Amino acid sequence: MQTEYAFRHRHIFGMEQLSSEDILHIIATARSFKEISSRPIKKVPTLRGKTVVNIFFEPSTRTRLSFEIAAKRMSADTFNIAAATSSTTKGETLADTAKNLMAMNPDVLVLRHSSAGAPQLLAKHVGAAVINAGDGAHEHPSQSLLDIMTIMEHKSDLAGLKIAIIGDITHSRVAGSNIRGFTKLGAKVFVAGPKTFIPQGIEKLGALVCREVNEAVAEADVVMALRIQRERDHDSLIPSLREYSRCYGVSAAMLRNARPDAIVMHPGPVNRGVEMNPDVADGPRSVILEQVTNGVAVRMALLYLVAGGQGGQE
Ligand code: CP
Repeated sequence: MQTEYAFRHRHIFGMEQLSSEDILHIIATARSFKEISSRPIKKVPTLRGKTVVNIFFEPSTRTRLSFEIAAKRMSADTFNIAAATSSTTKGETLADTAKNLMAMNPDVLVLRHSSAGAPQLLAKHVGAAVINAGDGAHEHPSQSLLDIMTIMEHKSDLAGLKIAIIGDITHSRVAGSNIRGFTKLGAKVFVAGPKTFIPQGIEKLGALVCREVNEAVAEADVVMALRIQRERDHDSLIPSLREYSRCYGVSAAMLRNARPDAIVMHPGPVNRGVEMNPDVADGPRSVILEQVTNGVAVRMALLYLVAGGQGGQE
């Protein structure tokens, strides 16, 4: 007897926990919410009465704003805490912050933190649902889901696609989540970058390591560049930004080896002229701003699924 699918996750920690069915369910839910953002009145009552708190201990433009926009478009009440203005600057631990937040009874906590596993730690101390908005170099599941949604809009299905991810694989939570997510849906993921940016054992996640960047890009359906994380002192891991750009920066010349209909992605923010040339970032193959648009829809879906929205769309 076939059992009916149900989304059963209380928290969203990473792509590791999600099955291919879960991923496709989240994307289908996001697709159903996407058109709300193009209505004259961009608001539905689905999460009315729910409270969403965005706790960002690291900088963010896209993720923080799109979680806030997503919550507001679904009529939830949203509040933001940033590290610089929170009591963590006075020495309060994450666990104590969590207990104090729970005393105010929020429904969803969205957390970005520099430490891998921080969302799981937070979830141990709270009754609210926790969504990981990026934990250290570990996972960034909502980014991966919006990337999958964007690829599916162009290629319909990830099964059999060749996806090249170029750059700092070691320190990128986007790479970790995307390798997990893309391979679960049947794509072949090829990674390339300087040796210092390719972690040992990455093959265990399902990625194929290429010695040459052109090997990764050849006949690729999707080419994704990752950001050099200069705020984490990663400049010291490469000879120079100029050298990095020359060897690994995604350029029009590099893309000649990709499939003619290949799309180009970047999670943002882009270091123009370093990991991607401006003519590529702004060119006809680029879907970077589509990724951002889909980020709102995916985050609406995640909030809906973990907060148990009952109001329906209107
Ligand atoms: N892609 C991404 O996480 O961007 P932000 O750091 O601006 O949120």
